[in-house]
Amino acid sequence: MNIVGKVVVITGASSGLGQATAHALAGAGAKVVVGARRLELLRTMCKDLGQPEEAAVQTDVTKPQDLEKLVKTAVDLYGRVDVLVNNAGYMTQGNLEEGRVSEWDTCIDINVKGVLYGVNAIVPYFKRQKSGQIINIGSVSGRVVYPGSVVYCASKFAVRAISEGLRQELKPYNVRVLNMSPGVIETEMEANVDVEPMPASAVANTIAYAIGQPENVDVNEIIMRPTLQES
Ligand SMILES: NC(=O)c1ccc[n+]([C@@H]2O[C@H](COP(=O)([O-])OP(=O)(O)OC[C@H]3O[C@@H](n4cnc5c(N)ncnc54)[C@H](OP(=O)(O)O)[C@@H]3O)[C@@H](O)[C@H]2O)c1
Repeated sequence: MNIVGKVVVITGASSGLGQATAHALAGAGAKVVVGARRLELLRTMCKDLGQPEEAAVQTDVTKPQDLEKLVKTAVDLYGRVDVLVNNAGYMTQGNLEEGRVSEWDTCIDINVKGVLYGVNAIVPYFKRQKSGQIINIGSVSGRVVYPGSVVYCASKFAVRAISEGLRQELKPYNVRVLNMSPGVIETEMEANVDVEPMPASAVANTIAYAIGQPENVDVNEIIMRPTLQES
């Protein structure tokens, strides 16, 4: 697989899908540089995965300068950066009439602006290298609107728009862009769905599949759900 030796930056890597992705990719021979707010969890994971302690970087994706530092750490450590997985995410639930304004702000700040800040931090390197891959973790909620989950859905629809726009805009620089749209995954995030969730490792392995394709193969969209999830 085209993963060995690649330098992969992952946001929201302290739990759930981000953590599983770090495990899958490091296991396949990648060098992972991981960001999230809970630094101790990242440090422990890096130790477990045989990655240097400096590869754990305290990162709040609502702060553009944190993403710049995260990407720069990867370049300082390894001289290049090959993949960004924009994974950090936050779910808010409740009907719009409940007016949970501060939760809406958090959701948009993390899920939408966080992705944009990640893109902003990495694109200059990819343009210079004329190679790279951006994997945005969307959701089936970026394709279907569920009542009681409208703001989260809106944020993931935005992620899909950003992914498709990036795919087109970054063509001249040979950059690959994937919008990854999973259904319910077993993580710390509480989804309000009554089906057995997919293990995070299954989604992580699918991310590894997309990275592992030959450099001229750009896997743009993946949708995966638990078999019993209807929409
Ligand atoms: N679980 C599902 O059913 C499901 C389905 C489809 C898509 N997704 C998407 O998958 C992605 C990962 O979520 P998950 O299910 O693995 O949930 P999770 O276990 O709650 O993980 C979320 C991660 O995001 C990080 N994070 C949250 N706010 C952050 C911030 N401001 N800055 C940096 N990192 C932040 C958290 O780390 P810290 O708290 O340490 O910062 C944590 O590592 C999200 O984009 C989510 O929307 C999840």
